[in-house]
Amino acid sequence: MIDFNDQHFRPLYHFSPPANWLNDPNGLVFYQGEYHLFYQYHPGSSVWGPMHWGHAVSLDLMNWRHLPVALYPDEHGMIFSGSAVIDWENSAGFGKEAMVAVFTHHHDHYEAQSLAYSNDCGRTWTKYTGNPVLLPPDGLCDFRDPKVFWYEENGAGYWVMVLAAHHAIRFYTSPNLIDWTPVSTFGEHYGAHNSVWETPDLFRLPVEGCDQSRWVLTVGIGSGGPGGASGMQYFIGQFDGKAFTSDNSESTVLWVDFGADYYAAQSWSDSPDGRRLMIGWLNNWQYAQLIPTTTWRGVLSLPREMSLRRTADGIRLFQQPAAEVLNQRGAHIEWTDLNVSPGDNPLVNLHGCALELDVAFIVNPQVEYFGFRLRVGAGEQTIIAYDMREQKLFVDRSHSGQTDFEPGFTRVHFAKMRPVDGIVHLQIFLDWSCIEVFGNDGEVTITDTIFPAEASQGVELFAQGGEVQVRLLKVYEMKPASITAVEG
Ligand code: FRU
Repeated sequence: MIDFNDQHFRPLYHFSPPANWLNDPNGLVFYQGEYHLFYQYHPGSSVWGPMHWGHAVSLDLMNWRHLPVALYPDEHGMIFSGSAVIDWENSAGFGKEAMVAVFTHHHDHYEAQSLAYSNDCGRTWTKYTGNPVLLPPDGLCDFRDPKVFWYEENGAGYWVMVLAAHHAIRFYTSPNLIDWTPVSTFGEHYGAHNSVWETPDLFRLPVEGCDQSRWVLTVGIGSGGPGGASGMQYFIGQFDGKAFTSDNSESTVLWVDFGADYYAAQSWSDSPDGRRLMIGWLNNWQYAQLIPTTTWRGVLSLPREMSLRRTADGIRLFQQPAAEVLNQRGAHIEWTDLNVSPGDNPLVNLHGCALELDVAFIVNPQVEYFGFRLRVGAGEQTIIAYDMREQKLFVDRSHSGQTDFEPGFTRVHFAKMRPVDGIVHLQIFLDWSCIEVFGNDGEVTITDTIFPAEASQGVELFAQGGEVQVRLLKVYEMKPASITAVEG
């Protein structure tokens, strides 16, 4: 029997589909004031199946309007992941400022890249009659998830496609989005390779505090991630318009997120004011189809802004919630200079399921660990804390609620993180079944799903093994985003 009682897992200010199955974000592009979000969608079921592109638009990245399905499977196969661009100069001949989707056609026997275009701000779509535009090299089965962007140097420009090809990334260039030339390959011996590479992205960012910049290549792998199974790694280096070279050694593995539930993230093309905004699938292939929701399944992360900063370990990717996320803040309570001893819970009167907790702890070498217990109820709690002895941030969802759909779900997820000038700063977003933790202003993130009972709504602040001082704690109630129904 279908259990329709799954709405208490639905987040209030994270994006989820109106009904049925969602996985990767696709085709992220900003045009004429709207952020477009397409996504891997099965409109007929709450498990993965024949993939379509679902569609939604937003003026502010938080409040979304669902639109009809944009792309349907056809004679070439299912519509797998990909990107979208505005063809400002009409290089493809699809019309002035056409929105062009570049996606993978997944056929039983091969994967190939194809195009579709829209001349009405993404409302209606036409598949290119010459599809597919890029066939796989002989014998290559995994050949998918094109990320396309315009590359310009010395006034001349062309399109670049970044494509996951088995255990590597292949780069192609094109004058018109239709004719593609292979130019280089990266990665066979670099980073983690527990499974094939998927959903790449490539973008340039300034390095904060100096006049340098670097290119960041992000890559998903379905298993071997730091939270178990799906994970996203990244490489930092140079891109000369044809080839990517890593600044780091082949054996260096850098993770975007240390939780179990951040995958297939992509960034928006043409975002206004030059911000590099990304959004990821808040789930994990290991158990994505088993999570205890039934009528809908799948959530996207909060939009995040990327930056590069120098750390003691080298240049690293930092992530912060996009400024728009903070518009969801409602009423708040704050505490300053609060001493928390073992056994204390200064938040005893606080309850909630859609909250932001922004806290600065002054660390004390005597304390073992400190942090929060969220969604606390009968036998249930999710711990988000800092382990002072091991200098790591962790999320423990072993007693978070329903976990028995996947044996590995109870594993603790942690990220190495040192206090900065004696302070551990955490920004935690709780949204019913979603948790996103930003440590040290985005130096590390841990993103995890939880499935507690509806009644588990307690919030606790705790210290163990010694006292910890809270310099400042702000707890915001987060307002629900407005999500309007499918039109048309
Ligand atoms: C990543 C992925 C992509 C593929 C899509 C299929 O999560 O496996 O490689 O295009 O999902 O839905």
